[in-house]
Amino acid sequence: MRKMQNILVTGGCGFVGSNFIHLTIEKRKFDGLVVNADKLTYAGNPENLSGIGVGPHYRFERADICDYERTEQLLRRYEIDTIVHFAAESHVDRSIYGPKDFIHTNITGTFNLLEAARKYWAGRDDVLFHHVSTVEVFGSLGETGYFTETTPYDPKSPYSASKASSDHLVRAYHHTFDLPVTVTNCSNNYGPYQFPEKLIPLMILNLFEGKPLPVYGDGSNIRDWIYVVDHAEAVWSILDSGETGETYNVGGKNEWKNIDLVNLLCERAAAFEGKDQDHYKKLITLVKDRPGHDRRYAVDCGKIEASLGWSPKVEFQEGLDRTIAWYRENTDWIETTRSGEHRDWIERNYDNR
Ligand code: NAD
Ligand code: TYD
Repeated sequence: MRKMQNILVTGGCGFVGSNFIHLTIEKRKFDGLVVNADKLTYAGNPENLSGIGVGPHYRFERADICDYERTEQLLRRYEIDTIVHFAAESHVDRSIYGPKDFIHTNITGTFNLLEAARKYWAGRDDVLFHHVSTVEVFGSLGETGYFTETTPYDPKSPYSASKASSDHLVRAYHHTFDLPVTVTNCSNNYGPYQFPEKLIPLMILNLFEGKPLPVYGDGSNIRDWIYVVDHAEAVWSILDSGETGETYNVGGKNEWKNIDLVNLLCERAAAFEGKDQDHYKKLITLVKDRPGHDRRYAVDCGKIEASLGWSPKVEFQEGLDRTIAWYRENTDWIETTRSGEHRDWIERNYDNR
């Protein structure tokens, strides 16, 4: 096990970051300190960590990674030896309608964090900067094949282009300045605490509210779904024993056409509620396609399986059932998440389609 004492998690109030912090503190019983630095954009909800509270193992700092001074100050104050970088603008549709924040946070923010780490760590090799990225940097697959760690970058959306830039910067800091880094590129996550603009939580909330389930285009686009805790476990395994300078692809080995997935969600929701499936399926509505919509993502995660012994554990139906139950039970969370700007944006962009 790599020695870690003080971990800085950026974007820990978001979906994947908060699941990672829960795993680190509650399941892995990390006995050092986790400092969560989050700007609290529309996607960041401190309630995601309300069960953890402030204690000897956890601190929350409202901080913008684009603010260099503040970022460097956090590294010094908490004597950070490990950075897990989740903070990002993360929604493809938003990047199409307003790419500026994506360039700012995903590229400039990552650059700031790298600079602060380089300055504070000053050549140390007992530290680690882990960068969390996406397989969307590889572009789109045809009917066959898988993304591997050596697939050439070919991002197609402003979101994936900004993540690709950040990946290149992280690797450049390793090659040029010897900054100890690791990178993961992961496929689509689902599970608790996901902001309901993404496909699965949006569909769950809409179907329980009797609203249309908007499927883009003909619904034949394919994504490889992974339960978020499996992703968090993959990141943990890299902090534990990943090799500096290496990149690892992470996926669920679980490809689904969007239309089939939405039908399955209707079936699982019907089972959960004891209702007829058609009650939900009749809400499925094909809508105008997303511009530049990537056709297919599928991930070969053989490298992390072979080298670190990680593999996705949560079976899809089990993960969906847990997710449906979570969104059904956490009505207060849904209320706060959808309030204010959240609510307005969702209404403008989704409810009326
Ligand atoms: P999210 O949108 O749910 O959360 C992002 C978090 O980052 C929020 O808490 C937000 O407040 C914070 N943040 C945004 N800008 C910030 C800034 N300038 N300074 C500090 N904090 C800031 O995103 P997510 O789905 O949890 O994704 C987290 C990371 O994982 C991202 O880097 C994303 O690219 C990557 N990823 C996500 C998925 C997925 O399916 N969700 C898949 C692969 C990779
Ligand atoms: P999304 O959750 O936005 O993730 P990403 O674009 O990063 O893959 O979308 C997953 C898939 O679902 C993608 O092919 C777009 C599609 N989609 C819909 O069909 N309808 C929707 O309302 C949303 C949000 C997504």
